[in-house]
Parts: sequence; structure tokens; C-alpha cells
Amino acid sequence: MKNYKIATIPGDGIGKEVIPEGIKILEAVAADSDFTFQFETFDWGCERYAETGKMMPEDGLEQIKHHDAIYLGAVGYPGVPDHISLWGLLIPIRRQFQQYVNVRPVKLFPGVPCPLANRKPEDIDFVVVRENNEGEYSEIGGRLHQGTEEEICVQESVFTRRGTDRILKYAFELSRSRAKHLTSATKSNGIVHTMPYWDERVVAMAQNYPDIKVDKFHIDILTAHFVLHPDWFDVVVGSNLFGDILSDLGPAVAGTIGIAPSSNINPERNFPSMFEPVHGSAPDIAGQGIANPIAAIWSAALLLEHLGEQSAHDRIMLAVAKVLEEGQALTADMGGSSAMKECTAAIEANIKANEIGI
Ligand SMILES: NC(=O)c1ccc[n+]([C@@H]2O[C@H](COP(=O)([O-])OP(=O)(O)OC[C@H]3O[C@@H](n4cnc5c(N)ncnc54)[C@H](O)[C@@H]3O)[C@@H](O)[C@H]2O)c1
Repeated sequence: MKNYKIATIPGDGIGKEVIPEGIKILEAVAADSDFTFQFETFDWGCERYAETGKMMPEDGLEQIKHHDAIYLGAVGYPGVPDHISLWGLLIPIRRQFQQYVNVRPVKLFPGVPCPLANRKPEDIDFVVVRENNEGEYSEIGGRLHQGTEEEICVQESVFTRRGTDRILKYAFELSRSRAKHLTSATKSNGIVHTMPYWDERVVAMAQNYPDIKVDKFHIDILTAHFVLHPDWFDVVVGSNLFGDILSDLGPAVAGTIGIAPSSNINPERNFPSMFEPVHGSAPDIAGQGIANPIAAIWSAALLLEHLGEQSAHDRIMLAVAKVLEEGQALTADMGGSSAMKECTAAIEANIKANEIGI
């Protein structure tokens, strides 16, 4: 019997609510499989920051370095500036553990109301691949002459050849396993150094993948195409900032951010990878038991896929699709009136019914 050791970091707000729901589903599929889970929960987040001045302990990364995977809820809450919560917990994990690939699938499921007119599930099924370790999210910069009329603020972007090539390689490889069509997000008309460099590396990488159709759009028109022509896309690769923006827009066109999952992957498997919903801590609905648990549940399915448990992943996703299509247990963000736990219970019941062949 395989035993997977999972570090769970529920974090803040609805993160604390949806992670236990995802764990229920992981336990439900494990019950009928040849693996078990050992969950270790870490209370890192904004409450801890308020008490200790730190989002996580000094040796936090050391404590989770040897787990098989990390399962995270959301980080950030009013009262703690967002750049402190993000840079105190999430970004150190992504960077120190070389999770340089952020994969964010976008899919319109039958049964989920789509905000775009006349769009069907077959029109919206793509993956945003976001560079996760460098780019625009850099610590290089600073302020001069603070508080004076001459105040200056500078923020540097960092695009290394190693960092750019490895994310592009991942995206091209992913395209090969899907529709063989890759779209690059750029802005080489306005950003005159890093983005022409990004475009050059796309052209160079494309030489190795003559079977992949490649196109590129500037980020401004690309956001419009996401809304007007979501059927044009299959794999979309972007820098840290562009990928971040596109991966909130994508789920919005597919109905709700409440179902959007993500993987932060260290492809070399030198460190654990991390799985988390795209959404944040949603302070506006936290504590009410009405959050959509599906982003966390789909993220749990991606965790299983990463561990090599493909059939367990598929069982979860079949149950999610069934519950969405039936429409009896939808949370408010999907136009329903069910509570979070009712939605999870419907998915769990579906998994169990399939286990015993009902
Ligand atoms: N990866 C992360 O941990 C992460 C990601 C984004 C934002 N944040 C943090 O979360 C906090 C709130 O950020 P925000 O308001 O920009 O984004 P958010 O994703 O928390 O919320 C945006 C909107 O979507 C709704 N929403 C989000 N998840 C939902 C769900 N599962 N079910 C139903 N509705 C849902 C919220 O109610 C809100 O109206 C901030 O502190 C931010 O820094 C963290």
C-alpha cells in the first residue's frame, strides 16, 4: 500500500473551508484504491502573522521539503498587506521549491452557466501555462527620495534564458499531448526589452516542435479574444504577470473562478509540487459555508495526477462533471443555492456510488 505524505496549508478565509472539503474527496477515492494519505496540517497564514509577525516559521520550508505534495487553500486577508502575505508564504514556496510551472486549466462544464452568449462546453477547453518563478514578480527595485516631491520607484522585471526556455519547453510539450496548438502572450510593442526577448525564445523553441502550430497576441488584444473567441485557444503560455491575469479571466469566461484549479509544478521532482485553487481567500464570503469547493477538489485531482494516480484523478473529475451537469448541488456562484458541504457531499456520493457499481 502506497502512503502519500501531504502537507496541507489551508491558509486564510475560505482556504480554511475548502481544503477540508478537498481532503474528504481525496479520502473517498483512497478508500477504494491501493494508496493512503497521511495529511499534516500547517497553520501558516495571516492569523499567525498577526500573532508572531511571520506568515510561517523560519524553518517552514524545511518542514515540508520532504512531503510528496503540498495542498494549499489561499493566502491573504484584510489587515495584512497583500504583498506581505504573498511574499511571506506563497512565493517562497514556489521559488525555493523551483515550482516554475503554473498550470491553470480552463473548462466550461455542461451545467455551469456561461457568461458568454451562445458558448457550448466544446468551445472553452484550454490551459494557461504561467511562468511562476521570475518575470515581473521580482524583488529587484526600490524607492529613492521617499516622501519628497522627487520620489522615485523602480521595479525590475527579470527574464533569464534558462527561466524562459524551461517554461516554453513545458508549454510546447503540453501542446503535443493536446491539440498541438500553442499561443504565446506578449507585449513586444510596448515593453521593448523583455518581451521581444520572450518572442525570440518562442521562435527558437518552436524550431524543436515543427508539429505545433504557434501564434502570438499582445496581451491587450489577447484578453479581448479570450472573451470573443475562447474557442481559438488550447495551450496559452505567458510570463508571470500575463499568466496570472489570463488565468483569472479564463475561469471567468468559463463561468466562475470558484471551480478553477492550479498546479505549481517542479517538473524535475527535486522538491514537492503544490496544488491550490486559483481563487483567493474571498473575505466577502468567508465563514459563511457558501464557497464553491470545486476549485479545491479539482486541485486535489491534479495532485493525484501528479503523483501518478491517473484513474483516481479521472474518478474525481467524472464525479465533478456529473454533479455540475445534474445541477442539484450548485453553489451560488454557479447560479445554485446549495451550501459548500452539500456540493462536496454530492461529489463524494457520486464517487462512492461508482465504487460499488451503482
Ligand atoms: N493564491 C492565493 O493564495 C491568492 C490568490 C488570489 C488572491 N489572494 C488573496 O485573497 C484575498 C482576496 O483577493 P481577491 O478578492 O482579489 O480574490 P478572491 O479570489 O479571493 O475573490 C474574488 C471574488 O471571487 C469570489 N470567489 C472566490 N473564490 C470563490 C469560491 N470558491 N466560491 C465562490 N466565490 C468565490 C469572491 O467571493 C470574490 O467576490 C487577497 O488578500 C488576495 O491577496 C490569494
